Amino acid sequence: MSRDKRIDEALVRSRAARSLVDLFDSLYEGAVLVDTQARIVWMNDKFKALVGWNGVEDIEGRPVEEVIANSRLREVVESGRAELLDVYPINNRQLVVSRIPLRDDDGVVNGALGLILYDRLQALRPIVSKFQTMQEELARAGQEIAKGRRARYRFSQFVGESAAARAIKAQARRAAARDGNVLLMGETGTGKELLAHAIHAASPRAQGPMVRVNAAAIPETLLESELFGTAPGAFTGAGTKARPGKFELAHRGTLFLDEVGDMPLSLQPKLLRALQEGEIEPLGSNRVLSVDVRVIAATSRDLKAAVDAGTFRADLFYRLNVLPLVIPPLRERRDDIPALADTVLDDIAMEAGEPPRELAPDALALLAASSWPGNVRELSNVLEQATAQVDAPVLTAAHLAPLLSAREAPRLVAGRDLATTPAEPLRPLRQVMAEAERTALLEALEVAGGVKVQAARLLGISRAQFYEKLATHGLMSDKTDIPKAV
Ligand SMILES: Nc1ncnc2c1ncn2[C@@H]1O[C@H](COP(=O)(O)OP(=O)(O)OP(=O)(O)O)[C@@H](O)[C@H]1O
Ligand SMILES: [Mg+2]
Repeated sequence: MSRDKRIDEALVRSRAARSLVDLFDSLYEGAVLVDTQARIVWMNDKFKALVGWNGVEDIEGRPVEEVIANSRLREVVESGRAELLDVYPINNRQLVVSRIPLRDDDGVVNGALGLILYDRLQALRPIVSKFQTMQEELARAGQEIAKGRRARYRFSQFVGESAAARAIKAQARRAAARDGNVLLMGETGTGKELLAHAIHAASPRAQGPMVRVNAAAIPETLLESELFGTAPGAFTGAGTKARPGKFELAHRGTLFLDEVGDMPLSLQPKLLRALQEGEIEPLGSNRVLSVDVRVIAATSRDLKAAVDAGTFRADLFYRLNVLPLVIPPLRERRDDIPALADTVLDDIAMEAGEPPRELAPDALALLAASSWPGNVRELSNVLEQATAQVDAPVLTAAHLAPLLSAREAPRLVAGRDLATTPAEPLRPLRQVMAEAERTALLEALEVAGGVKVQAARLLGISRAQFYEKLATHGLMSDKTDIPKAV
């Protein structure tokens, strides 16, 4: 059967159409015709050579995707919409292509024509090179994001040789070897995030992503889409793209659900379903996605009390509490303070490229006796501030006392009033106010037992403002979690 005859029989009936096909064959580097089922009706030899099917007899009748990987001709047949100019990779080459639906006399789509215009690439060079640059940038950004999704900490970074610290590390290592959900409980700054990363990094999922969501830092209205994603066109109008949720992004990896105690009651059933069935339903969609995710949740609240108070579902609590880990506050493992202080001072020195500062015995005694409502984070903050403000190579108690929460300074070390400092010269108001604010934040946190929402309430500010201020004072590292746009 001649080529023309095949075309005749299969699709192209009119003489005009046939001469058009001849024209395409001669003009374009590649031309392919498909029928209403997106099966190949005809393909010119140049196209066959390009996709490596030259010499194969029975190309006709095959589904187009079998011959041209990822072909979009089926979409064009189904939608009836032409795609006049597209840059498209075939065999690792970026080609400029057109896809045109074909219609019968009544306007009904009866096939589609795909053309490779790459012999015209010369003329299109500016646009193609722009496109390539953009693609390279996108790939780089993608790599950066992937890097951000890797674990940031390992177990060796969890400093502490006290019995309590060793027990925690041992439990966390055991949790890493298993695949159940982990619940990390501890006051603010005790290292919940550090351990979550370390558990992921030591788990069989280490090669997968580690994705974090902070339930307290994201406004309730955005949290659902943040976790479960949105279907295309959902609430922002038609045409917007689907946005994957954190569950989907964490597929085959770990989802770190930070401040899970702040999860709104309204979202808890959906979260439970995700944990129980591994199924999520993006916002505005009626499709269910299956995901394979291990959850590590963290909370600085007493979740059992929240269950009793009716603000946290008991069934969700039991789902999360498969491998519970309680990290004791720093004041209950004071033996760890010298090692932690040394590590912090070493880190600061390394970053500054200077020899590490030392701590005088009275400074160490002061640190060891302090109550540390902000735990390890507060300890490293105090040392950072001291290093920034004091030039001396050895830090003394007199250097550190003014930096510790004002209220506790006088009762720090029995019998000695280490907080007494010479009458201070007047300082800029901004600095005085910033210090007062910082103290107020820490005090509120202590009074609220580390529960940030409650601390915010005590200070008469919103939760979001409280988080913002914590971040400003370097008291937390969560700011990046707040989504910038819907
Ligand atoms: N045992 C530890 N060894 C070394 N560094 C620690 C340890 N515990 C905490 N840190 C450091 O203290 C800081 C706070 O820790 P992390 O962010 O893990 O606390 P968190 O429990 O998540 O606090 P929050 O509840 O406020 O989010 C981090 O810089 C972390 O690296
Ligand atoms: Mg944290």
